[in-house]
Amino acid sequence: MAGRLEGKVAIVTGAGSSSEGIGNGKATAILFAREGAKVLLVDMFEDRVAETAAIIAKEGGEASTYVADVTSAAECEQMVATAVDRYGRLDILDNNVGISIRADVTDVTEEQWDHIMNVNVKSIMLTSKFAVPVMKRNGGGAIINISSMAGMRANSSMPYTTSKAAVIGITVALAGDHGTDGIRVNCIAPGLIYGPMVAPRMDERLRGDRMHAAPLGTEGTGWDVGYAALFLASDEARWITGVTLPVDAGLLITTPVTYNSLDQQKY
Ligand SMILES: NC(=O)c1ccc[n+]([C@@H]2O[C@H](COP(=O)([O-])OP(=O)(O)OC[C@H]3O[C@@H](n4cnc5c(N)ncnc54)[C@H](O)[C@@H]3O)[C@@H](O)[C@H]2O)c1
Repeated sequence: MAGRLEGKVAIVTGAGSSSEGIGNGKATAILFAREGAKVLLVDMFEDRVAETAAIIAKEGGEASTYVADVTSAAECEQMVATAVDRYGRLDILDNNVGISIRADVTDVTEEQWDHIMNVNVKSIMLTSKFAVPVMKRNGGGAIINISSMAGMRANSSMPYTTSKAAVIGITVALAGDHGTDGIRVNCIAPGLIYGPMVAPRMDERLRGDRMHAAPLGTEGTGWDVGYAALFLASDEARWITGVTLPVDAGLLITTPVTYNSLDQQKY
């Protein structure tokens, strides 16, 4: 049986993991390759993407690594050119790179603000700037931007929330501009995922609190984000563009502490 992405070429940015384990970008890259895509694995650190490439190779998939800083226009241009040189086309761009900092408006520095906006927002403008013309020549493509639940609700990180809200904005703008080019642009808003990005800052109590914060009460992983990206990248989502899909165990739809205590009182 043909894979869901058979014959397609994909770029996944941030395809490594910032600490041990399998994060959103790594899981997405592995799932894309499992479903038949040829994947360019992009990261700032060669050893991080080499790990992802080794997993894909072991499973018999096709992928190669490319080291780039996606805040650099020249490196983004070269990244897209490399995908086309190696694999002949580009169908899917998964903009997964993102960083977070904890700060409110009184303590964030100007340097921190510029850095997070560059990494989380400007990078998507740059990768898309070079990917869109190539996809347009193919007759279409799919772009998936990784936002966060923090882009929709406050999360004790004003710069992160602002940047992730902008990711939703750029999704809508690109989807509107390039729909007639056959390019679908969608967004994923992960909730309290347990993965390499947050694990180093977490103890067991906080991990449990995060797990029980949403109605499903189970722990989310990079695979949950990866499967959502796989769907949005595939032709199964051919009529879906401009949406933001929460992958959050229901975190967005309620305030669990209040909700659960009401339930216990049998209201
Ligand atoms: N883990 C969570 O709880 C959570 C929740 C909501 C949203 N997200 C979003 O998911 C995305 C990342 O998830 P992950 O699990 O893959 O994280 P991760 O930190 O494990 O991996 C991200 C990778 O991006 C790379 N990277 C960072 N800056 C880069 C740059 N300028 N150029 C190229 N590569 C760069 C890092 O080296 C790292 O390998 C981010 O956009 C993040 O905001 C995560």
